[in-house]
Amino acid sequence: MEILISYYSRTGTTKKLAGKLVKEFKADSLEIIDRRNRKGFFALIKASFDALTANVTVIEQFPHQLEDYDLIILGNPVWAASITPALRTFLLGNSEILPEVAFFLTHAGSGTERSFKQMESLTGRDPLATLVLERSIIQQEKPELEEEIKHFKDLIESKL
Ligand SMILES: Cc1cc2nc3c(=O)[nH]c(=O)nc-3n(C[C@H](O)[C@H](O)[C@H](O)COP(=O)(O)O)c2cc1C
Repeated sequence: MEILISYYSRTGTTKKLAGKLVKEFKADSLEIIDRRNRKGFFALIKASFDALTANVTVIEQFPHQLEDYDLIILGNPVWAASITPALRTFLLGNSEILPEVAFFLTHAGSGTERSFKQMESLTGRDPLATLVLERSIIQQEKPELEEEIKHFKDLIESKL
């Protein structure tokens, strides 16, 4: 079973969770890199605007062949109750070659349902499982972190 964890992260929270999933699933890792500057006050306003209005961006090329995987686990922080432009761009470019999918989101309190709906719509898939973690749980490594990851893994394994 070949598994890829594919994610976008601006400030490292989603990346930290992705790293744990890579270990747990013995998966390969693909960090989606947004080539647009997302640092600074005005860039953050633009980031929210881009997410809210479903704008695309330019992402870096990656060496992985998505066709080689049986499962791709897609992750992303919630921006303006939406997925990020980087994940949107990745999905728009690759939705036709995606295998089974599962989703994870990090957030600060809201917007996860809408984001999952966007991921379902762009992949055209029902995820095998979803994982949602509020950012402080990841940053402070609260006990829920390992519990939720285990639950996510068990759910996926029960469906494969
Ligand atoms: C531009 C922007 C918009 C955001 N909008 C939301 C939001 O609508 N709801 C929410 O719960 N968190 C929101 N957040 C917080 C992030 O989802 C949260 O901090 C996330 O864990 C950051 O992940 P990262 O460190 O991997 O980039 C937003 C953050 C940014 C930068």
